[in-house]
Amino acid sequence: MRLTWTPNMATGIASMDAEHRNLIAAHNDLVEALADGVAADVAASLGRLLAMTQDHFRHEEDVMRATAFSGLSRHEVEHDLIITEFYNARHRLLGGVIRTLDPAMMRQFKRWFVDHVTEMDFDYVAHLLDHGVE
Ligand SMILES: [Fe+2]
Ligand SMILES: [Fe+2]
Repeated sequence: MRLTWTPNMATGIASMDAEHRNLIAAHNDLVEALADGVAADVAASLGRLLAMTQDHFRHEEDVMRATAFSGLSRHEVEHDLIITEFYNARHRLLGGVIRTLDPAMMRQFKRWFVDHVTEMDFDYVAHLLDHGVE
């Protein structure tokens, strides 16, 4: 269930690549916490991943907005979907409704991350590089 950085994820925008790598690391921390099975650690790891993901999405949306990228609103919808799903899962964990995360949800996140970075994020690459975003 771990995520591994692969060269096809490299956008060539240094800040985005660094953030994507950090998200992979945070995801893998969560996978480890799930394997250990300590509910408080799972909630803490999920909280960190959620916060880092929100920061990353905000960063992407800010630079897309600042450079008037035409695909911004479509991109924001995708971001909002994943944040909502993780926020709800964290809420259920903290409330004691669930004790762990559904493996199907983790598989879905993994698939979503790879697809999102290699497809949707790549849509903005040429535009942002043209506007000097690093
Ligand atoms: Fe991204
Ligand atoms: Fe994105």
